[in-house]
Amino acid sequence: MIVLGIETTCDETAAAVVERFEDGSGRIFSNVVLSQVNEHAAFGGVVPEIAARAHVEVLDRIIAKAMSEAQYTYDRIDGVAAAAGPGLIGGVIVGLTTAKAIALVRNKPLVAVNHLEAHALTARLTDATPFPYCLFLASGGHTQVVAVRGVGDYVRLGTTHDDAIGEAFDKTAKLLGLGYPGGPQVEKEAENGDATRFALPRPMQGRKEADFSLSGLKTALRLEAEKIAPLSDQDVADLCASFQQAIVEVVLDRLRAGLRLFRDRFGAPTALVAAGGVAANQAIRKVLHRLAFEIGTVLVAPPSELCTDNGAMIAWAGAERLALGISDSLDIAPRARWPLDEIAAAEGALQGTAAYK
Ligand code: KG4
Ligand code: ZN
Repeated sequence: MIVLGIETTCDETAAAVVERFEDGSGRIFSNVVLSQVNEHAAFGGVVPEIAARAHVEVLDRIIAKAMSEAQYTYDRIDGVAAAAGPGLIGGVIVGLTTAKAIALVRNKPLVAVNHLEAHALTARLTDATPFPYCLFLASGGHTQVVAVRGVGDYVRLGTTHDDAIGEAFDKTAKLLGLGYPGGPQVEKEAENGDATRFALPRPMQGRKEADFSLSGLKTALRLEAEKIAPLSDQDVADLCASFQQAIVEVVLDRLRAGLRLFRDRFGAPTALVAAGGVAANQAIRKVLHRLAFEIGTVLVAPPSELCTDNGAMIAWAGAERLALGISDSLDIAPRARWPLDEIAAAEGALQGTAAYK
């Protein structure tokens, strides 16, 4: 099963060609990603209208590059997948409409992929991770703990009440005058900082449910920064280190709760899986390793280029769905909001069949 995947939900224009073999393993033939970081940097965040226009300008070339790098012609692919949401609607429309046009002209099945599902299934592309596993998805727009029980079978165990973790990193960076995207910059600054200098809160610590709340942490950091302004380089490094340490401890505590919920409801997970841009953070990866070890499982953390937004994850999710005989009609609508557990609700009838697991 060879699938072309298209990703345009945020600020990366991406396309890839991926194969899913009958035994469930996968192979990436091409994975082309063009980041719009430079277009948005001056604004300190993604500007939706700029993003949509930038996708329109480059998407056809990115797809052509993915096809030529893979050395495949359209005759040889089995389907076209595009992220149909959730995300910035202008960009989603660009990617989904392009996929529909290719599917129509080349007479191939279309798969409208949920972007979060694609993050959730990446561990199966890279590591053939069997179900059920516990997913920690942490990106600029999402912070979720999810029980992944099968393709299309997701149970959300926890989420954030306010900011996503990546968003908290980005806002911290902006506040401290660091560049965008903030995560990598904060991580770099934190290396030279004193993580014990500022006493920042660890919101939600000790709660039974696996939810997050990060806006209070962000406010506490701003108050500390204002107290000592103007900030020296060392102040910035210490604030970053203290912030990152608070996040690491929050992740440890919240995921412990999530894994406990998982075990109670579904038994032992086959793995703890990390996904989303924040999973590129080394301090967070370290704590995830520790957690996995603690509960006697393994950490599956795909390489960072597959943790951040890319086309291979969309192609792979499309291939997983096509392998189960699932495709979409050409009139399917793009969705700005599309919770992961809604997929399961819509396709409940398929669950429980052997093929679906
Ligand atoms: O998954 P992603 O590429 O895009 C979506 O948001 O869907 O994630 C981007 C987010 C940004 O908020 C960025 O600051 C964060 O991931 N990020 C990091 C690191 N690298 C990227 N956060 C913390 N540490 C990092 N090393
Ligand atoms: Zn994403």
